[in-house]
Amino acid sequence: MQSTAICDKTKGIATAADIPLGKLVLFNVFYEIFTLCTSIIAEAPNGTLYHARNLDFGLFIGWDTDNDKWALTEKLRPLIINVDYQSGGKTVARAVYFTGYIDVLTGVKPVMLTLSMNERFQLDGEQFFIYKAARNSIMTEELLAPSYFILGGNSSGQGCVITRPRETMDNLEESSGTVQCFL
Ligand SMILES: *[C@@H]1O[C@H](CO)[C@@H](O)[C@H](O)[C@H]1NC(C)=O
Ligand SMILES: *[C@@H]1O[C@H](CO)[C@@H](O)[C@H](O)[C@H]1NC(C)=O
Repeated sequence: MQSTAICDKTKGIATAADIPLGKLVLFNVFYEIFTLCTSIIAEAPNGTLYHARNLDFGLFIGWDTDNDKWALTEKLRPLIINVDYQSGGKTVARAVYFTGYIDVLTGVKPVMLTLSMNERFQLDGEQFFIYKAARNSIMTEELLAPSYFILGGNSSGQGCVITRPRETMDNLEESSGTVQCFL
């Protein structure tokens, strides 16, 4: 999905920040092949939706015996940033990133939608902002890696866990994908 745009963004950042392109690409594909993170979506009896995630990144790569923690995870933790997308001085969407990571792993459109993924996903313009369109897009777009997505809407019952093979889920019977929704 939108791989040309991702390539252009990667090249642009490499040029602007004077970082070798290969280094930036390596950092971005590393997440594809090495991650154990997960997300949950739940609904309280009063209809309030909760969407939470962790980012288990950097496990098993060197143990810091001084602090009893994974060494790479400790180095990555300060790189996590919250980004506000603003239009006319107002926040229209929020996302959590590893600094230098090109894609969005966790996004919130206030009062409309929350989305987290546990491999890689490119948000697709307006579709991000509407729960059903987002659900449809997540099920039908071809992906770079097998992934699972946790999607929350802005109303009671709007929660889904979508497990995706790399190819599309047009034929659920033949693919290894599953869709589990509140509704
Ligand atoms: C709904 O319930 C949750 C959990 O008990 C609580 O934290 C939240 O404030 C409640 N929301 C409203 C709008 O009452
Ligand atoms: C939920 O989002 C839709 C757009 O997807 C919007 O039209 C609607 O007003 C929102 N509902 C609430 C309760 O915020």
